[in-house]
Amino acid sequence: MSDKDQRTFIPLPYERMSESEMIEKSRSFADSISKRRSVREFSTDPVPMEIIENAIRAAGSAPSGANKQPWTYCVVTCADLKRRIRVSAEEEEFRNYHGRMSESWLEDLEPLGTNHQKPFIEDAPVLIIVFKKIYDQEEPTGSKKNNYYVNESIGISVGMLLTALHQSGLATLTHTPSPMNFLEKLLNRPANERAYLNIPVGYPKNGTEVPNIHRKGLDDIMVSYI
Ligand SMILES: Cc1cc2nc3c(=O)[nH]c(=O)nc-3n(C[C@H](O)[C@H](O)[C@H](O)COP(=O)(O)O)c2cc1C
Repeated sequence: MSDKDQRTFIPLPYERMSESEMIEKSRSFADSISKRRSVREFSTDPVPMEIIENAIRAAGSAPSGANKQPWTYCVVTCADLKRRIRVSAEEEEFRNYHGRMSESWLEDLEPLGTNHQKPFIEDAPVLIIVFKKIYDQEEPTGSKKNNYYVNESIGISVGMLLTALHQSGLATLTHTPSPMNFLEKLLNRPANERAYLNIPVGYPKNGTEVPNIHRKGLDDIMVSYI
């Protein structure tokens, strides 16, 4: 059998819109997504699990190197597990803020008002803990198979997850209590998975404030070659 015989192609589901409709959609999406902010104070109100599942479904449709889909999204709502994650995260973050981070890093974080205390890990009703698969393991032999462009692939997938959650009306934080290998142990992940991000998800606490950050304008981030 030739390689071509093993391939299957299906029609692309695509409907071309009018230019005016496309422009209107692009404008409205840019407005909406630019309102996304990292939230560090969460209400303890529960969130509909279907939204979490749909957002992970959206994230799972991301492009990935050689279609390896090198990600696992762990959804934690168990209060005891959240407490244990918080304890370990705060231990790592204490060391980060008290010696492991450089002076310039601490200076860059200053406007955000963050410190080693992470109550949001317990307050947020859901933690989505993302693991990257540095390789795949074949069943049943357990032999290793390469994954490609893992960091690029998972970054795109998480971007889609954050976008989907924001569009659904939920707030998120991208939290990196590095080193994060304690998450692999606490969640009992297999040897081919590495912790990538902790994403608390929920409603912002009433009256929550966020840092007044500056976002670069189009002229700063786009270069045209005409
Ligand atoms: C890879 C990555 C790691 C981050 N790690 C942390 C973190 O550990 N703790 C935290 O409070 N915010 C963290 N953030 C959030 C950033 O501080 C935040 O995105 C940035 O200040 C811009 O604010 P905005 O998300 O509200 O636009 C992280 C963001 C990214 C993309």
